[in-house]
Amino acid sequence: MIDRASVPRHVAVVMDGNGRWAQRQGLVRTEGHGAGERALLDTVYGALSVGLDVLTVYAFSTENWRRPVDEVRYLMNFNRGLLTRRQHELDDEGVRITFSGRRDWRVPKGVLKTMDQAEALTARNTTMTLNIAFNYGGRAEIVDAVQKLVEEKVPAKKIDEKAIRARLYHPEIPDPDLVVRTSGEYRISNFLLWEMAYSELVFSDVLWPDFRREDLFSAIEEYQQRERRFGGLDK
Ligand code: IPE
Ligand code: IPE
Ligand code: MG
Repeated sequence: MIDRASVPRHVAVVMDGNGRWAQRQGLVRTEGHGAGERALLDTVYGALSVGLDVLTVYAFSTENWRRPVDEVRYLMNFNRGLLTRRQHELDDEGVRITFSGRRDWRVPKGVLKTMDQAEALTARNTTMTLNIAFNYGGRAEIVDAVQKLVEEKVPAKKIDEKAIRARLYHPEIPDPDLVVRTSGEYRISNFLLWEMAYSELVFSDVLWPDFRREDLFSAIEEYQQRERRFGGLDK
């Protein structure tokens, strides 16, 4: 059972295993991405029901451009379609949609436009933030922050953790308390490098398309068994 008194504020999820899910049932990889939509929506409803402030999901990494062009094209169209299909439903639930990642030339204009629309439509919602990491890389985020510091001519002596944090994609979002990765892979894959300095990590063998709110709840229960120390000795 989830202890309602110590629910994490921010959970971040590496939605992994779509390709393997599809291949296991004799489908093409992209059908696995398609099947991930249901998993995402169910996870969002689970997050709303336990009262998370923020759910961050890793949808496309700066390294995912290395995949075959057809798969990349599918993922761009799929993410755009998902936003178009779901933004009003998420808006009705009071979800604020935000994005973390690079808005560079590689992202098709139509996708950027739909992202802007979803962000604008939901900007005033306060029930929960769904932060979508899209064309996101943890190293790229730090590089972008350093570029901003240099552009703003911040003197070297003034550069501290606060100054860097203030230039990340969403400085207003608290660090994730819990990071979940699905599909039995035990790595970070360039996700939230700065932000997860003290996050608890939970790994699940479930392939993303099979992930449901109950899997989120069990990850939260595991989190609640952990003792967070932040380098000190007391909780
Ligand atoms: C995660 O599933 C989705 C993205 C990375 C976009 P994968 O496509 O990585 O699935 P596997 O890991 O190959 O099974
Ligand atoms: C991480 O999964 C990125 C996303 C889930 C979007 P990958 O499947 O790209 O990670 P690696 O290649 O296995 O490390
Ligand atoms: Mg993968």
